[in-house]
Amino acid sequence: MRVPQCPTVCFLVTVAAAQLSVSVVNNLPGNTPTYAYVTAQSRDHQIVLLQSDHTWYYPHVETIPSVPLDELASIAIPLAAGGARTTITIPSEFTSGRIWCSSGTLAFYVVLNNNGEAVLVEPSVTNATDPNHAVDWGFAELSYTKEAGLFVNLSYVDFVGLALGISLESQDGRIQEVSGFPATAMADLCDRLQRQARSSGYPWDQLCVTDSDGRIRRVLSPSSQIRRNPSAFHDYYSAYVDEVWSTYSQRFLTVNPQTLASNITCIVHGDTLRCSGDDRGFRKPTAADIFTCDSGPFAIDATDNDAHVAVVPRLCAAFQRATLLLAGGDLQPSLDPSFYYTASPNNFYSHFVHELELDGKGYAFPYDDVGPLGADQSGVIASQTPRLLTLTVGGRSQ
Ligand SMILES: *[C@@H]1O[C@H](CO)[C@@H](O)[C@H](O)[C@H]1NC(C)=O
Ligand SMILES: *[C@@H]1O[C@H](CO)[C@@H](O)[C@H](O)[C@H]1NC(C)=O
Ligand SMILES: *[C@@H]1O[C@H](CO)[C@@H](O)[C@H](O)[C@H]1NC(C)=O
Repeated sequence: MRVPQCPTVCFLVTVAAAQLSVSVVNNLPGNTPTYAYVTAQSRDHQIVLLQSDHTWYYPHVETIPSVPLDELASIAIPLAAGGARTTITIPSEFTSGRIWCSSGTLAFYVVLNNNGEAVLVEPSVTNATDPNHAVDWGFAELSYTKEAGLFVNLSYVDFVGLALGISLESQDGRIQEVSGFPATAMADLCDRLQRQARSSGYPWDQLCVTDSDGRIRRVLSPSSQIRRNPSAFHDYYSAYVDEVWSTYSQRFLTVNPQTLASNITCIVHGDTLRCSGDDRGFRKPTAADIFTCDSGPFAIDATDNDAHVAVVPRLCAAFQRATLLLAGGDLQPSLDPSFYYTASPNNFYSHFVHELELDGKGYAFPYDDVGPLGADQSGVIASQTPRLLTLTVGGRSQ
């Protein structure tokens, strides 16, 4: 790390205590009360939730699982309305953090898992009996440690909900932004998904979750939809996967691991794609394996070697973006984002999410950070020396 020069403000760098300042700008229309919640893991791996006095609340293991935590501690941080800012101070380092914003209150619970450890039950978009089902919410994900600094991103891996944007100012004045969606994005997204459903016969329209009065509440990703309905999209990728397997039984597919010393070459033998240096290989993935990047051939075992672990994200990303049969698609990743989603079938959800994001950035599937050098669509922003993180709820102010 570069040692900062010290004209006047060096003390800022050294006392950059483990506190993090977050400013939330609330541009939501109407007068439904809006709240922020901060959930995280402390450095000693305990569940923590921020209280409105900016101290951590540690839920007790003996907490009754059916009592929502906001009845036990003041974890709902009220947000000023009408474009005003609310400043939140996060008092110490944390990992696996989320800042949730909701129009109305959210219920969080703590339950014990089979090992007797407390786990946080978060609002779910796939559980129709979840008490949060009828609430609008969204979140940014972040972690903040002295060693690594602050990492923050917008994730649409599970769904698109309340419009959020992030902006991070570092102590040297540098500003990094991910703009998120305009306030009208959900209607546009559902329009496109409905047209895709009509032209393809696949249930893209069912990703749009509406209220009883027809208002769009949120848009689920295909992997969330598959969690609700395991047979959705069942044969969506089958013909494409067959073609990819037959193409790469005749020639090599090269995977550039980007972190290891040499490229990995893969070829299909029988029904298995086998890659140099990888002891395990890949069976043909189903649509559910592709959309989740986490089951069948894309499930990573603790015993997998580096080559296998490097191929999983790159191969799964190539299926979302349908780049495997394009000219140049035999080296992954290599094509720039203008080639993504130009063939069909592809993941039309992530395709449209990126089209509608104001700057094209924000995770729309789990390995959206895969890409050739300099072509990031995931929109992760990071700083060793953050000064202020700003979260905008309800679309940017004009
Ligand atoms: C769905 O939510 C209800 C109510 O919180 C809970 O009792 C149930 O266990 C949840 N189901 C799943 C599959 O998590
Ligand atoms: C977003 O950032 C969080 C915190 O750094 C990280 O744990 C998470 O994996 C990132 N999200 C995705 C989809 O990669
Ligand atoms: C992988 O292959 C590509 C294309 O041939 C090449 O540009 C790149 O340098 C190779 N990477 C390594 C680590 O050999």
